[in-house]
Amino acid sequence: MGELGHWVMRKNSSRRQFEDWIFITSPQSISPFQFDPEHNFLLQIRGKKTVHVFDQFDRAILSEKYLEKYYTEGSANAKLDYTEEMQKKAMTFDINPGEGVFVPLTAPHWVKVEDNVSISLSVTFYCDEADRKARLYRFNSRLRRLGMTPTPYRASAFRDATKEAVIATYLKTRQLLGRAPTQTTDRY
Ligand SMILES: [Fe+2]
Repeated sequence: MGELGHWVMRKNSSRRQFEDWIFITSPQSISPFQFDPEHNFLLQIRGKKTVHVFDQFDRAILSEKYLEKYYTEGSANAKLDYTEEMQKKAMTFDINPGEGVFVPLTAPHWVKVEDNVSISLSVTFYCDEADRKARLYRFNSRLRRLGMTPTPYRASAFRDATKEAVIATYLKTRQLLGRAPTQTTDRY
């Protein structure tokens, strides 16, 4: 998995960061509906679990306002609602030992362990897209607070690029004035 993570990051990221986690969970346990701000390879080692994954671009599930709040205020203040109605949109994977599923960046998901103890390996990694998405949603949140209705992320390549240029200029100016943040992933 480490090799896979390095390969993916070479293709997608200037930020070399990935983490692996082992999850040991009891029978019938449920990981609630949520998403993560990074990509995730979930591999099953022991037992069986069912993974329900939803489209990260379905704005009926993940609204623009919700994403702006998440990237501005964090997951503790931005709870993701789940309704039974959404379930018909799920892609459902039953994973057994030796099998796995890829959960893309910000794709909502929930997981149920079957009637067995489950051991899973999760390898998560960030990429340039994850950082860019976070920056632009924070920027859109700021525009909305100023009374504007920002163009959604990815709706216009030109507008996204313009916003990126404004953010970069702002961060550079702060840096020159000795008022870091110096990291483009920091809040602004
Ligand atoms: Fe997760």
